[in-house]
Order: sequence, then structure tokens, then C-alpha cells
Amino acid sequence: MLYLVTIGFCYLCGSIPFGLILAKANGVDIRKHGSGNIGATNVLRTLGKKWGYACFTLDFLKGLLPVLIISIFFNKNYPELADFATIIALPATISGHIFSIFLKFKGGKGVATGAGAVMAICPPAVSLALVIWFICFKMTGYVSLASIIAAIFVPIIAIALSSTQIIEVSQAQLILLTILATLVTYMHRSNIKRLWNGTESCFKKKEKQS
Ligand code: G3P
Repeated sequence: MLYLVTIGFCYLCGSIPFGLILAKANGVDIRKHGSGNIGATNVLRTLGKKWGYACFTLDFLKGLLPVLIISIFFNKNYPELADFATIIALPATISGHIFSIFLKFKGGKGVATGAGAVMAICPPAVSLALVIWFICFKMTGYVSLASIIAAIFVPIIAIALSSTQIIEVSQAQLILLTILATLVTYMHRSNIKRLWNGTESCFKKKEKQS
């Protein structure tokens, strides 16, 4: 029962479509603009930096907070169940964002929410992946490419840090991080096609044009 409540709570938190809500508040249906995605990148592209950053922050927090709350609750009350509860909290939260109950099981690509959720269990891996994201973005101007590369690096960094015993990550967590990186990459399949065709939206090109 406790595990079911955990899944339901995390899934519902992840399901809140902040990008859609912020855009609606500005009179825009974000799904009909730019890439059509409800994530922070498309909100920034469509409504500007202020709303894009707000969307990233809210999507990040809706990933971080439920997993953190579950982890703290179980560690305090049911420590023997805490590891498994955290492991199920993570995919439940990210699935909420990608397959939102409020959007007929459609949603975003899981980058900001995924970063927040994984931050709750493995902050060093997310912090280093954010550095990788920033370098890739600055070099290429493609958010999608930076996101895919950063997502792939999360399990690699976690494996590297845990093998050198800098952090402790369980086998189950490593498998989960690998599955989530694969899911985030899969959610970028339309971006990958556009990158391949040379039609992906590039922030560097836009900066040069303006
Ligand atoms: O987080 C999503 C980002 O990586 C790509 O967004 O709008 O360019 O498809 P978008």
C-alpha cells in the first residue's frame, strides 16, 4: 500500500504540466508553437528567457521534491523500505512528466524533471552532467543535443564515481539511471531526426542572426 501511495504521489507531482500552465497564463498553447514540446526550452523559445527559466525551475523542483520527500519519509519511518521506495519514486516522477495524466498521457521529454529527480539520489552525477550540458550547449547551440549527451553521461558518471567509491550508488540505482537515460534519449527522437537533417532549432544561429 505504501509503495502504491508513493507511486501515485510521485506520478501526480510529475504530471503537473508547468510549461503548459505558464504558457496558458500568457495566452499561448505551447503545444502549437516551436517544437510543440511543453518543456523549458520551448517555453523560452516561445515566451522568452524569464518564462523559460521559470519553467525549468518548476519542472526541476517537481522532480526533486517528491523523491526527496519520499526518501526522507521512508528513512524516518520505515528505513528498511527506504531504498526501494526511492527507486520506485524516481521513475514514477519522471513518467508523470513524460506521460502526464493531465495531458492524455502525453508530456515533455524528461530533462529538467529527470535532473531534479536524480538530484535527490545522486547530486554529484547531476551536477557534473549539468556542466557537460553547459559545455555542449555553448559549443553547439543545440539544447536537445546537450540534453541527450548529458543524460547519457549521468549513469556513466554514477558508475565512475561509485567504482572509485567517491559516492555509493546501488546496482539497482545504476540500472535505473541507465534506463532513464535511454528513455530521455528516446523522447528526443524527433530532435535527433532534425539534428540529422540539419533542421534542428539552434540558439547559436539565432544569436548570430539577431
Ligand atoms: O528538454 C527538451 C530539450 O532537450 C529539447 O526541447 O523544445 O527543442 O524539443 P525542444
